[in-house]
Amino acid sequence: MTKINENFLKIPASYLFSDISRKITEYKEQNPNADIIKMGIGDVTMPLPTASVNAIIEATKEQLDSATFRGYGPEQGYDFLRNAIVKNDFNDKNIDLEADEIFVSDGAKSDSGNIGDIFDKENVVALSNPSYPVYIDTNAMAGRAGEVGENGLWSNIVYLNSNAENSFVPELPKTKVDIIYLCYPNNPTGTTLTKDQLKKWVDYARENNSIILFDAAYEAFITEDDVPHSIYEIEGAKQVAIEFRSFSKTAGFTGTRCGYTVVPKALTVKASDGSEVSLNKLWLRRQTTKFNGTPYIVQRGAEAVYSAEGKKEVKALINYYLENAKIIKSAIEEMGLSAYGGINSPYVWVKTPDKMGSWEFFDYLLTEKNIVCTPGVGFGLQGEGYVRFSSFAKKEAVVTAMGRLKK
Ligand code: MLT
Repeated sequence: MTKINENFLKIPASYLFSDISRKITEYKEQNPNADIIKMGIGDVTMPLPTASVNAIIEATKEQLDSATFRGYGPEQGYDFLRNAIVKNDFNDKNIDLEADEIFVSDGAKSDSGNIGDIFDKENVVALSNPSYPVYIDTNAMAGRAGEVGENGLWSNIVYLNSNAENSFVPELPKTKVDIIYLCYPNNPTGTTLTKDQLKKWVDYARENNSIILFDAAYEAFITEDDVPHSIYEIEGAKQVAIEFRSFSKTAGFTGTRCGYTVVPKALTVKASDGSEVSLNKLWLRRQTTKFNGTPYIVQRGAEAVYSAEGKKEVKALINYYLENAKIIKSAIEEMGLSAYGGINSPYVWVKTPDKMGSWEFFDYLLTEKNIVCTPGVGFGLQGEGYVRFSSFAKKEAVVTAMGRLKK
């Protein structure tokens, strides 16, 4: 008889954002005239940069001619994009990486979910509570999370509590862990670590032979000087960290799909026979087997993000969303509620009023104000009593939503 992967039965029946989407659809069916403002999932609303669209059009036209037509591309990405990434995102910022340490993909969600393929099931995983649900769900699917208790916590996961009491700076684990997920600027709290704070994690990983999986999908939103854009700004990080990046939030590629993962060649792990194994080689092996590359035309669109015109347009997009975040944060604070993030991040993390639960406040906002947010508890138990507002809506919608809230 066929056996299923029963780990899937241990996780919630549907993904957080699918649940929210279903709730919105149901509400809309019953209230067809409701003018719902969506500030839930971090999905961009501004169009792609013109530079990217033009590049995609040109690349598409190439497909009409057998002389320029492209079939399968390199699974790890075309050199033109890998070179542009290495130059602009790293070398120009004094980080020494090479193109073959970059793996272009269809986004940071897939990569941060798939990376577990190259790690043994027995590794002890640490992750922030709250955190992006992909980390816990994919570890649970792989059987690495253990069993979920009545309290909703997984038996084999080390939780790094991140809350207002510790200013959203989790403590180092008290026990030895093998894999650590860090996401900064953080999803969902919108908070950051300084270079010194991140250095402590790199030092911990070096001392304990751990690997850090650093999700930097929101680095383009950083406005403060002391906040690192890349973990490789920290000395010694290349020996212990993998970094995920995304064009989704930076340049509006949530639908177009493109991101990349950095696996430095200096990153090695000892196999059980004592040999040093390169994670760069393992990830290449995984990707060439399971992934057939991001479409050529999309990679040309991503390359254009690094053109002079593209850079200008991306800056304008980021500023647009950061301005929205500022509007959200100050409106919430004017109402006397506590709000975090929103300065180096498109997300504002808000303490619910009157000790309301996350879902209770979500329902209230949906039904009474026709505003969609994301319930904090969906990101983990430490998120209970919070909701997350995304600033990726249109500015007029954000202003309207804050007006409705103030009433
Ligand atoms: C979020 O809202 O947390 C993000 O949009 C999720 C994602 O990027 O997959």
